[in-house]
Amino acid sequence: MESLQHLEAQLLEALKDIKTDAALNDIKAQYVGKKGHLAAAMQTMKTLPAEERPAFGQAVNALKTVLLNHLDSHQKALNEAAMMARLEQEVIDVTLPGVPFEQGSKHILSQIIERIEDLFIGMGYLIKEGPEVESDLYNFEKLNLPADHPARDMQDSFYIDEHTLLRTHTSPVQVRTMLAYGGEKPVKIICPGKVYRRDDDDATHSHQFMQIEGLVVDEKTSMSDLKGTLLEVARTMFGADREIRLRPSYFPFTEPSVEVDVSCANCEGQGCSICKQTGWIEILGAGMVHDNVLKDAGYDPTKYQGFAFGMGVERIAMLAYKIEDIRHFYTNDQRFLTQFKDDQGGLEE
Ligand code: DAH
Repeated sequence: MESLQHLEAQLLEALKDIKTDAALNDIKAQYVGKKGHLAAAMQTMKTLPAEERPAFGQAVNALKTVLLNHLDSHQKALNEAAMMARLEQEVIDVTLPGVPFEQGSKHILSQIIERIEDLFIGMGYLIKEGPEVESDLYNFEKLNLPADHPARDMQDSFYIDEHTLLRTHTSPVQVRTMLAYGGEKPVKIICPGKVYRRDDDDATHSHQFMQIEGLVVDEKTSMSDLKGTLLEVARTMFGADREIRLRPSYFPFTEPSVEVDVSCANCEGQGCSICKQTGWIEILGAGMVHDNVLKDAGYDPTKYQGFAFGMGVERIAMLAYKIEDIRHFYTNDQRFLTQFKDDQGGLEE
């Protein structure tokens, strides 16, 4: 009984040096484990006279509870100390400068394309796409440009094999769509996409650039529909006060063909360096779809007429934002790209 009374004091003394979970487990085993001091005390119970045993047994059990409580509170103290140490170590200094999160934005050309798409979707057009690797048949032949046609010289092309090339314009999507429609349904589409030409890159030429093609085929389609549509484009991109004018031109796939100018927004038509003192800036090519093109794509030219147009997206962007070098669009200079962040086009509604 006497040695039992010392055990609590001994344990408390021993716990003073215990700083780790492992050491605490050792002490726990030494005192309340199967081979520990309390177990040894129980063993001695056999040697006691029978009448003393119940009191001794109770005393051992009571002591066990006390010892376990001490061990438990020491464990809690260790846990708390460990937590405090971690908190101290992992402290966050909220006054340190943050790491800025760089958020990307849409490329200016994508913004312009989306803006033009929105305009045409509003007028009931569908958006169509075609392959960039195109057959000679769709890129030239079915657009009224047969193999020996001199107009093919207008577009020096990247050929992949004798009959396959990187498309030189988005016009082949016209042919693909008309063929898919089977010569019956009206067509009302625009086709944005990349095109390729064997040009040496400089401030105004790029071997790869973007176009938006437009095509309407229906039973009563006229040049005035074309003009009204293109006026909308000009005003959406360059401002509500713009005017357009049509000049006669030549494209193999349209007859008549026109080049379309927009009145210069910079000088309001007075003449400046941007419009080369003319008051007008050329923005696109267009015309009434050539009978041969309609016929080759399965449409009866005595019943259907159509208009078509094609514009360069970079050219529109360069005019709208006074960008002086087409290479800026493709060299990924952040100083250029970030100028158009979160931009709504910078253009008038
Ligand atoms: N495909 C022509 C080019 O790349 C642009 C063009 C002109 C498209 C007149 C047309 C059009 O649809 O009618 O230069």
